[in-house]
Amino acid sequence: MKPFPPAALAFGGDYNPEQWPESTWTEDVELMREAGVTLVTLGVFSWAWLEPTEGEYDFDWLDRVIDLLHGAGISVDLATATASPPPWFSRAYPDSLPETADGRTMWPGSRQAYCPSSPDYRRAATALVERIAERYGEHPAVVLWHVNNEYGCHVSHCWCDRSAVEFRRWLRDRYGSLDRLNEAWGTAFWSQRYGDWEEVLPPRLTPSFGNPTQALDFDRFSSDELLACYRAERDVLLRHSPDVPVTTNLMVAKFKGLDYWSWAPELDVVSNDHYLRGEDPLGHVDLALAADLTRSLAGGDPWLLMESSTSAVNWQPRNIAKVPGQLRRNTFAHVARGSEGAMFFQWRASAAGAEKFHAGMVPHAGTDSRVWREVCLLGADLGRVAEIRGSVVQPDVALLWDWQSWWAVEQQAHPTGDLDYIEQVRSYHAALWRLGLTTDLARPSADLSRYRFVAVPSLYLVSDASAENLGSFVAGGGTLLVGPFSGIVDESLRIRLGGYPGAFRDLLGVRVEEFSPLPASGSVRLSDGKVGRIWSEHAHLTGAESLASYSSGPLAGSPALTRRSVGDGQAWYLGTCLDDASLQALLREVTTVAGCRPPVPAHDGVEVVRRDGAEASYLFVLNHTADPAVVPARGRELLGEADVDGALTVPPGGVAVVREHR
Ligand code: GLA
Repeated sequence: MKPFPPAALAFGGDYNPEQWPESTWTEDVELMREAGVTLVTLGVFSWAWLEPTEGEYDFDWLDRVIDLLHGAGISVDLATATASPPPWFSRAYPDSLPETADGRTMWPGSRQAYCPSSPDYRRAATALVERIAERYGEHPAVVLWHVNNEYGCHVSHCWCDRSAVEFRRWLRDRYGSLDRLNEAWGTAFWSQRYGDWEEVLPPRLTPSFGNPTQALDFDRFSSDELLACYRAERDVLLRHSPDVPVTTNLMVAKFKGLDYWSWAPELDVVSNDHYLRGEDPLGHVDLALAADLTRSLAGGDPWLLMESSTSAVNWQPRNIAKVPGQLRRNTFAHVARGSEGAMFFQWRASAAGAEKFHAGMVPHAGTDSRVWREVCLLGADLGRVAEIRGSVVQPDVALLWDWQSWWAVEQQAHPTGDLDYIEQVRSYHAALWRLGLTTDLARPSADLSRYRFVAVPSLYLVSDASAENLGSFVAGGGTLLVGPFSGIVDESLRIRLGGYPGAFRDLLGVRVEEFSPLPASGSVRLSDGKVGRIWSEHAHLTGAESLASYSSGPLAGSPALTRRSVGDGQAWYLGTCLDDASLQALLREVTTVAGCRPPVPAHDGVEVVRRDGAEASYLFVLNHTADPAVVPARGRELLGEADVDGALTVPPGGVAVVREHR
């Protein structure tokens, strides 16, 4: 990984000086210094300013802004400005506008109105990047390149004719022949057999359910097309400034559109945008999942929180302001889980445009405001913990996470519409969070040998190789827990016949003959008192022991929770979705058996995460409760600059970072 950040923890935000008169820029930079800003993201939506008409560029204003920032010692994460093509572009190249599955055009007037497969877009975007990279590639202020912005946020798929051409090219590469495509897509069904490549289309609006494998391949293709856009820009940047790391801001964990496992290795710095859902009382647990997944995408290396909000956003049904202290807690939660600082959208809240009610670091009210004061405190706090840079989080627990299985499991015409992928993973992650265990997210093909415990909340689609990988993990002494409706289909969505859970049947020692999803809001009691939701199934033991069976309903007596010992390892299977309390009880039991321990014994609502560095380890304590929390610790508390000798008291809503005595 190219070293980042170069000097201090990153602290700052998206800076859009083109929205303000030049007289404001000087004040901006003074205020940035006051707040301790070290890095700003510049130029994300500046295309129309940098290239006001095709082929005519104006960099004077950007020169002045960058020099101003540089003079103040503030580094720049320079954007390639390609996320929002200007009106002249859409007018000149109307074929570049994206189309929906039902053939409607998405027009300019907002942002991101381009088809990822448009050759005109690619050409115009890379031409702009060429100019930017030429001009600023060696500017000492530029420490990071920011390609585009949130790829796929608004247009992750495009169904236009141009996309159809590129989809066919992608399919030819994947399958080689139409016969193989017909086989993979199961086109013997409903008379869908293709006789000519030109007959193959993106999965546009159809009278009834479309072909599932066509839809899945279109998801794969769409992720790859945007990745090709990223690569095209990245390659230009690399030619001009091979030493400056490149990133693009991801939208982990809620964004379904892109397979970030294939994206992450292409980024020098993995960066993420995270926004709380203001009305979610468990938003901080959701935040932890996003941060854990981002760290995992970075392969455990440090990463960067590229965007979050100082207070309310503007795009939720009700935009709830953060309460005092929440900004600090939220920020340190990301830092605890591996972020090398915290960046915000945006520096100065806009006075015009669609996001004018989105909070900024400098709010509309100006500096005589709670938000500004908290921003300044945060800048100082991040300065106090700068020594944590480069330290890493090393969990011994992992949850499997797979975008392709997510796309597949939520297709239509399945046994139930109630199996929500994110909800399944979230429920496991939240239960582990409550147990005080920090969790990695791993792709199914990952080397799992460093984990003691791996859970698979949902893995409907699995390849033979990944199924074997899980088997090797257990054979190597690991403890595995597999959730329902996993191992069911191969990469072409073909059912693995002979009984469910197909790919895992032998490993788990269980054979399921029929699914029996529960009615809406239904539940089923297990013989050990746990409560199942959403799903049940008729299972037989073929090598496993039953730990709990269904105690009521038509499946009474059928195993619901099983375990099979394999050498020193164990393969557990859960045939239902447990309610929160039951899942927590189960995970407590399994992780204890597996020998997983939290950094300190778990407290309700007190989040404790350890980062390990070469010289020291750091214990982050976030008190989400309304009472003081006492946590065992020894060392130096860096925020309050005090020694801790055995017991650390963290005030309600407070944060502490302890450099631990080894
Ligand atoms: C995203 C975008 C930003 C802005 C924020 C608002 O993260 O990248 O440009 O729109 O959302 O929350």
